[in-house]
Amino acid sequence: MFSRRLSTLRVPLARQASSQATLRKVLEEVVPVKQERLKKLKAEHGQAVLGDVKVENLIGGMRGLKSILWEASVLDPNEGIRFHGRTIPECQKVLPPAPGGNEMTAESMLWLLMTGQVPTPEQSRDLSRELAEKGELPTTITHLIDSLPPTLHPMTQLGIGVAALNHDSAFQSAYERGIKKTEYWHYALEDALTLIARLPALAARIYRNIYHPGTTLPPLNKDLDLVGNYTQMLGFGDNKDLTEYLRLYIALHGDHEGGNASAHTSHLVGSTLSDPFLSYSAALFALAGPLHGLANQEVLRWQLAMQKELGSGHEVSHEDIKAYLWKTLKSGQVVPGYGHGVLRAPDPRFIALQEFCDARPDLLKSPTISLVKKTYEVAPDVLKEHGKTKNPYPNVDATSGCVLYHYGLKEFKYYTVIFGVSRALGCLTQIVWARALGLPIERPKSLSMDAVESLIGK
Ligand SMILES: CC(C)(COP(=O)(O)OP(=O)(O)OC[C@H]1O[C@@H](n2cnc3c(N)ncnc32)[C@H](O)[C@@H]1OP(=O)(O)O)[C@@H](O)C(=O)NCCC(=O)NCCS
Repeated sequence: MFSRRLSTLRVPLARQASSQATLRKVLEEVVPVKQERLKKLKAEHGQAVLGDVKVENLIGGMRGLKSILWEASVLDPNEGIRFHGRTIPECQKVLPPAPGGNEMTAESMLWLLMTGQVPTPEQSRDLSRELAEKGELPTTITHLIDSLPPTLHPMTQLGIGVAALNHDSAFQSAYERGIKKTEYWHYALEDALTLIARLPALAARIYRNIYHPGTTLPPLNKDLDLVGNYTQMLGFGDNKDLTEYLRLYIALHGDHEGGNASAHTSHLVGSTLSDPFLSYSAALFALAGPLHGLANQEVLRWQLAMQKELGSGHEVSHEDIKAYLWKTLKSGQVVPGYGHGVLRAPDPRFIALQEFCDARPDLLKSPTISLVKKTYEVAPDVLKEHGKTKNPYPNVDATSGCVLYHYGLKEFKYYTVIFGVSRALGCLTQIVWARALGLPIERPKSLSMDAVESLIGK
């Protein structure tokens, strides 16, 4: 009863007239089915064993420990990510693009992540319209962001802005009013959609303030999808290829299982019943680490330094790249864009972005992108010979920033912000589902060395 009232109140008239089920309506059908499934799993198999905990798990960043319930995506070490069972090429085939485009939209990926279903083009467009309608930033937030020094890292600014958006949290105010646990997810969903809707305006304002002060952001266009609006607000709206690239990039980065640092962080913070804004702002600060989301900025810095020393990708030899890789490794640094906590093969997201480049002659001519390609031809063997990393292959960040650079978005300190706009799709989906499934506050057991030694009988 509650949810029907909420959706009637909040869904604009234009969409109520649509013959297609809204995201809320679909979720109202899907949630009880999963709730029942989880109840049964807990009742019938609550004591079943899923694996061992070894000392190496405890001291090795919990690698491989099966300890988080996460619905939207599963990461296979060799095959890469699947979103509700669908590979990246499968998603590219079935998820609706924006009108006039080819790449799947953020909205259609969000729909898939949230519901496990493929939206119709009309459902995806309705969602785009809803997000555009609620995407303007409140003036309190624009004032806050405008008051930050332009020297403050864009990711710090994004995290501050997202946290402050909780000023209008539906979840927080409903909780304060006193609602039943079974109603949490409805309000978490409202906040999730509000946050996803406002992220482009927030992220674009940060970009303009830091790199193009004094320029005016265009208003949100209700006929554009989330990424279409984002590129308009960044000032690249005329570049159709960049818009398409960002659609692909943002959909692909939307989710990568639950154990990665940003996803795990939002899950943990959300488990305390912190609202979705606070939970996701915490995730953004995990994303801001160089071993995680900041890697795309690091890759570009590293590629440009290599290009400066060796010349453009068209001229440089494989031998020179090899020598440069060894120089990086011998100086004790990691090769950015290579390795992964779970993957043991080239990242299919890297491959999807490479295919995007291969289909565009102007990208193939780019000296940086050809250097990425040549690096890929030699780096795995060098890393294998180096012998440390368990995965000598490229991850998505090996190429992601170089394409942005080519299209003129050259401020690479900003790249992780784009990742932050994207990762909201998966993290916020999980917050909605964690509340829908009634998952409790996280509280794993920690052990001292004394305790470990005594447990293993030393
Ligand atoms: C992603 C990353 C953090 C995963 O770390 P991980 O799970 O600890 O990886 P591994 O288990 O393979 O690490 C084993 C060793 O190989 C090293 N290693 C991993 N990737 C490496 C790389 N790209 N270059 C050089 N050394 C690397 C690690 O630093 C570690 O060394 P140590 O034993 O001296 O601490 C790591 O591969 C990395 O730092 N990559 C570069 C940054 C990057 O691209 N991040 C984006 C990830 S999507």
